[in-house]
Amino acid sequence: MLPRHAPGRRAHHLAINISTPTPYRPSVFQLVVGRPLFRWILLIIGAMFGLWIFAPLLFGGGYRLHRHHRPYIPDGIAFPPPPHRPPPPPHHEGPPTVWSERADRVRDAFVHAWSGYSKYAAGYDELMPVTGEPVNNFNGWGVTLFDSLDTMWLMGLHDSFREALGSVAKSTFALKENNYAPFFETVIRYLGGLLSAYALSGEPVLLTRADDLGSMLLPAFNTTSGLPMYAVNTVSGRTRLGWSGSVLWAEALSNQMEYKYLAHLTGRTEYYNKTESIMQKMYTANHTDGLFATMWDIHKATPSNFHFSVGAYADSAHEYLLKQWLLTAQSEPKTRDLYLQSMSGILNKLLYLTPTRQLLYVTDIQNNYPTHIFEHLSCFLPGLLALGVYSLPDLSKRDKELHTWAAKGLAETCWATYFDTTTGLGPDEIAMTPGDLWMGKMEEWEAGGRVGVPPGTWEVKRQRWEAGRDWTVRKPGYLLRPEAVESFYILWKTTGDVRWRERGWSVFKAIEKYTRTKYGYASLASVDDAYPQLKDEMPSYFLAETLKYLFLLFTDEDPLSLKHWVFNTEAHPLPVFDWSPWEKEEYNITL
Ligand SMILES: *[C@@H]1O[C@H](CO)[C@@H](O)[C@H](O)[C@H]1NC(C)=O
Ligand SMILES: *[C@@H]1O[C@H](CO)[C@@H](O)[C@H](O)[C@H]1NC(C)=O
Ligand SMILES: *[C@@H]1O[C@H](CO)[C@@H](O)[C@H](O)[C@H]1NC(C)=O
Repeated sequence: MLPRHAPGRRAHHLAINISTPTPYRPSVFQLVVGRPLFRWILLIIGAMFGLWIFAPLLFGGGYRLHRHHRPYIPDGIAFPPPPHRPPPPPHHEGPPTVWSERADRVRDAFVHAWSGYSKYAAGYDELMPVTGEPVNNFNGWGVTLFDSLDTMWLMGLHDSFREALGSVAKSTFALKENNYAPFFETVIRYLGGLLSAYALSGEPVLLTRADDLGSMLLPAFNTTSGLPMYAVNTVSGRTRLGWSGSVLWAEALSNQMEYKYLAHLTGRTEYYNKTESIMQKMYTANHTDGLFATMWDIHKATPSNFHFSVGAYADSAHEYLLKQWLLTAQSEPKTRDLYLQSMSGILNKLLYLTPTRQLLYVTDIQNNYPTHIFEHLSCFLPGLLALGVYSLPDLSKRDKELHTWAAKGLAETCWATYFDTTTGLGPDEIAMTPGDLWMGKMEEWEAGGRVGVPPGTWEVKRQRWEAGRDWTVRKPGYLLRPEAVESFYILWKTTGDVRWRERGWSVFKAIEKYTRTKYGYASLASVDDAYPQLKDEMPSYFLAETLKYLFLLFTDEDPLSLKHWVFNTEAHPLPVFDWSPWEKEEYNITL
């Protein structure tokens, strides 16, 4: 044992410069440490401190000092990881710009719609914006609240967000015995809303309720084919078919993003299995030159009509093909292949040009004949095509060109349907003057040496008079729908062309001018009336989608980079994630 005064290494190093050794004089410290009792106490305290610091390292894992304490997760076991944390909501620094002020105007519009709803319709699904009355039309669980959560968070409306969480916490998702929740709408609005608000805020109650709701809706998948029933009673698990007796293609293929992300967050195999089983059916299903029927047999998972469309009945199924591939970090190539196949079918068969203005439009085929009807709902397609070009690096040069041109041309036409009308808002459904197949015109243009811009992609000029429009109205209302501004947003993000922003601003100004009421915002009965009649409805998607896309279009920040976030069909952004090796094994994910 060393003498008590023997210098340690450090002291020794100092000591070599000292020529005369100083005589030994015990300090107070040495006197205290020198007593055996104190020495033992210090030793024990030291050992306990060491154990506290190093034990997690010795027994696996790392020592964590999180402000929000997370459960200790040993390496190698893939618990669901915490949600991807985005930067805080966009907060404009510095002096206001034209665009930051426009974003503020959209926030004001949201606040107006939200205050009307929370004041006059809290606890109900939607506000009737003309009479100020509440209405239940989507299960009576307060769909506007669930649909609005992530928009509030993005707009930095934290007080409203926190208040809304209280209502979320109290939800039971119960239904009376004879009531049924429509599966598709409940998944994209309620479940999608909860999941994206969870991904943005990390509030645990949102995930708990998403898990509750996700499992209450599972009986919908309990069919011989695995294709979902139209509606389910969340208490009894009883299900029922819709009016058509078949499954719409959009109903079958618009739950994979939500259920896969939910499987990833909860580790529950059935969430993955049920939704992926539908994909397995689609990989082997019969299609017609890449086109998938709008209705499917619930027992056999086979097509049950000869109707091909990108509008109602089919629309979001196309989105979920590309978006599943993007959401799961490009790890499921079969969904990408199906996307490319279906886009090729659409580009070859459903795209036409009007004879006079050469407007590019997408229509549907009914028993081999194109109807030449163009739905506002189809205006999501240019945005989807642009997103595909942006995120599919392996696209062939020709596909890249065709998809880019189709995106531009279709978005121009969507804009024309707004630009041409008296109110500056687009009608819900129009009939186009029948013209030629786009692909035929495209091949002629290519064969002719590609003179001028590709057919259908030129900038449209306004046509006030119906006779000159190349289209007539079938459903004249503007239902506060998002699809046109959704595509403007994606085109602005992917091309940087400021015209899409300017056009979005025109749309927003028209919304303010014609649809704003004392209580909120109302759908219009006819877009070509100078004093249009208001319909007493404010759909929840106006807050979830239309105002969110407009806000994102104008805000100079990029809170939801298209590389890291994927919007579900109700504009609820979900974060891109990787399947861990554990999940691949457990869920039997085969690529
Ligand atoms: C699924 O349906 C079968 C037969 O209709 C029934 O026996 C079973 O309990 C159902 N399962 C669930 C989870 O609802
Ligand atoms: C889901 O589970 C069933 C029964 O275990 C299995 O046959 C089926 O292949 C699974 N589906 C997927 C997509 O993994
Ligand atoms: C596809 O159609 C063919 C001919 O109609 C039929 O024989 C085959 O069973 C179908 N395949 C599937 C997977 O439905």
